[in-house]
Amino acid sequence: MPFLSETLSRVKPSPTMAMTNKAAELRAQGRDIIGLSAGEPDFDTPANIAEAGRRAIAEGRTRYTAVDGIPELKRAICAKFKRDNGLNYAPGEVSVGTGGKQVLYNALMATLNPGDEVIIPAPYWVSYPDMVLLAGGTPVTVACGIETGFRITPDQLEAAITPSTKWFLFNSPSNPTGAGYSQDELKALAQVLLRHPHVWVMTDDMYEHLTFGDFRFTTPAQVEPALKERTLTVNGVSKAYAMTGWRIGYAAGPEKLIRAMAKLQSQSTSNPSSISQWAAVEALTGPQDFIAANNAVFERRRDLVVAALNDCAGITCPVPDGAFYVYPDISGCIGKTSAGGAAITDDEAFATALLEEEGVAVVFGAAFGLSPNFRVSYATSDAALSEACARIRRFCEGLR
Ligand SMILES: Cc1ncc(COP(=O)(O)O)c(C=O)c1O
Repeated sequence: MPFLSETLSRVKPSPTMAMTNKAAELRAQGRDIIGLSAGEPDFDTPANIAEAGRRAIAEGRTRYTAVDGIPELKRAICAKFKRDNGLNYAPGEVSVGTGGKQVLYNALMATLNPGDEVIIPAPYWVSYPDMVLLAGGTPVTVACGIETGFRITPDQLEAAITPSTKWFLFNSPSNPTGAGYSQDELKALAQVLLRHPHVWVMTDDMYEHLTFGDFRFTTPAQVEPALKERTLTVNGVSKAYAMTGWRIGYAAGPEKLIRAMAKLQSQSTSNPSSISQWAAVEALTGPQDFIAANNAVFERRRDLVVAALNDCAGITCPVPDGAFYVYPDISGCIGKTSAGGAAITDDEAFATALLEEEGVAVVFGAAFGLSPNFRVSYATSDAALSEACARIRRFCEGLR
């Protein structure tokens, strides 16, 4: 009898782990490594939010809470959906978990049966397909390349839907590409979904507030109210409020789904940290002006990185709408040999040689389901970004 569960064997080991380990190994040898793989803002949590956490401890708000969130936070989330998205939700339609990750996981675990399919546009956030597999479902990935701006088209969505489709799971602005869907693009996808009433929509709006230029964020239940009764709108405080370590995510959707998610959470982690929940109340109801200030910094870095990467031989880097990632195409580098003698057979070989020869750590595209690309997170200093881009350029110039 095997000791480890069969469920676990369905999940791949993290493809990024080998790169992370390699970077750590080189650093330990004293090499100067620039990491461009972090999935979190490099800003501190704003002082008023951190203070709300300290206050919660001082006031003894340190006990178990309601499983899926204190009423004060649920009310703050309802107010947020009204303010930012024009959506009306009651507290009973809101679930709070330990990060957006747990909320997504709960929703999939609470709804998937063997044979159920989940449509996931690729490139995707690394966790989606594995979460679907853990929940016993079947991920159906749809390749969305640079020619459509890494966005799924209505025709592609229509073609991917079968009688077994349970969810369409998507993310805008996207990790890893930064691509966002405009209101018109969402409307066109909604038209397809309206023709298939058995398909539910899980929208991961984690990067809602990290958008640039003329891009205007909208979310499916807002764009097509008829979808609201089968949409789970997932969001969280990690990215916009620089609170990745506090672990608070949330979602709003039909009450029967929210109740099922709470039932699951009640038998796993119970409530997310009481202290973090109070800090999240302050995040959602307190001043929001620092978001624009942080975005101005991210937009400047995005422009720096996009311009520098487009200057590298063999690389094409589209301009993203949001988040803090770029996802350049490296078709022009594949099949070549690096200055250090490595055969660049695919994007993993590119990233490995770049790390070994120039000390720049990026995540290769295969990890996100679309190649040949790599992901750069520009949530780091301008100086580190400029130096990293200069090294990438030198690496590309050395390819023969
Ligand atoms: C697209 C996307 N969704 C969800 C999450 C999870 O965020 P959280 O820190 O709230 O669990 C992340 C974090 O990297 C993400 O990039």
